[in-house]
Amino acid sequence: MPVPTKIPIDAEKLQSEIDELALISENPAPVVTRVLFSEADLKARAFVKGLCQNAGLVLREDAVGNIFATWLGTEKNLPPVATGSHIDAIPNAGKFDGVVGVLGAIEAIRALQKAGFQPKRSVEIIVFTAEEPTRFGIGCLGSRLLAGALSLEKAAQLRDSQGKSLEEWRKSTGFNEKELGTIKLKKDFYAAFVELHIEQGPLLEKENIAIGVVEKIAAPSTLQIQLTGSGGHAGAVLMPGRRDALLAGAEIALAVEKSALESGSPDTVATTGVFRIEPGAVNSIPCRAWLEIDLRDTQVKTRDLALLNVEKSIHEICQRRNIQFDLKRLNVDAPALCDSVLVQTVLDNCRTINLSVKKMVSRAYHDSLFMAQICPTTMIFIPCRDGVSHRPDEFSSTEQIKNGVIVLAKTLSQLSAE
Ligand code: GLV
Ligand code: MN
Ligand code: MN
Repeated sequence: MPVPTKIPIDAEKLQSEIDELALISENPAPVVTRVLFSEADLKARAFVKGLCQNAGLVLREDAVGNIFATWLGTEKNLPPVATGSHIDAIPNAGKFDGVVGVLGAIEAIRALQKAGFQPKRSVEIIVFTAEEPTRFGIGCLGSRLLAGALSLEKAAQLRDSQGKSLEEWRKSTGFNEKELGTIKLKKDFYAAFVELHIEQGPLLEKENIAIGVVEKIAAPSTLQIQLTGSGGHAGAVLMPGRRDALLAGAEIALAVEKSALESGSPDTVATTGVFRIEPGAVNSIPCRAWLEIDLRDTQVKTRDLALLNVEKSIHEICQRRNIQFDLKRLNVDAPALCDSVLVQTVLDNCRTINLSVKKMVSRAYHDSLFMAQICPTTMIFIPCRDGVSHRPDEFSSTEQIKNGVIVLAKTLSQLSAE
């Protein structure tokens, strides 16, 4: 079947669905918070599954809640073409991160259906479970398990800040009918994976370019640390000999910043994004602290150097301050290289429809980081205002989103017609 030249994207409908989904949140608008397995996350899943059903897609879910919505092709024995992203959102987020890639994929399929296109290979939308690390400390939980990049032993050890395990969450949400071991996909289960996403950085907007095509995704890593000192009365315990967990944590956070500044690479970024203390009373010395540290780079060498320096600092600071610590490397991932043929396909598609385009590196991570381990993968980026993301004022215009969906639809039609 020839690929359609005219793809009638209904950008207004897509925008209203993005707006509607944004209202399913743990916080009042414009804040979007949808932490994995929260009531908002479960409601948002139901909303998206409803849209998929209305589009005639066949639904299935796996043992960690990854959702697969399939537009059946005429040749069911061929590996499908996949697209998709995530709908979970970190606390205090906006409405476009991940969502554009999920709802945009549904609109891309609806538009291809309207154009009379019938795919040869099935086209599958994946709504990945927990791209965001909020609940369990590690990102891309669903895609890691699909790619076999997270061992079942490590998955069994995952706990949220209340101590509730992944297994307990699977039970309470009803995803436990199948074992976690059933999630992993065979290599090349998919013919290709293409993810549409907002850039989450400023380059496309600055250079007035409509589309970015991702060639590489930076290498992320996460450390989790629990610090234990000793508490006591803020008035009665004199300063010598105190074992204040917060102060050790504060020194560690500064060492984290230093590790990035001194890695020798401008691409190293390091953030202490979680810092909780106990007991959290103004007249009580903090006896315990929990930190989560995010450290990334486009190059593994400088990322690893910074990581080692942070770990050395933690040892030194805790020894000097007589603080016990429990340090875990939650994840230390390689960067992903995208498939050069797919990158070229997307570039050519943009040029055919006169959209300005450039190749890019993604500094944010995405489920594509893990999909790239099992099939040819690339990403389509659209600009976002001032490069802002992970904030309620995150914004891409209806027109910018429409551009991304047209490129996605065109690419999916080509890949599924072969
Ligand atoms: C994804 O949300 C990231 O933190 O890069
Ligand atoms: Mn995000
Ligand atoms: Mn995202």
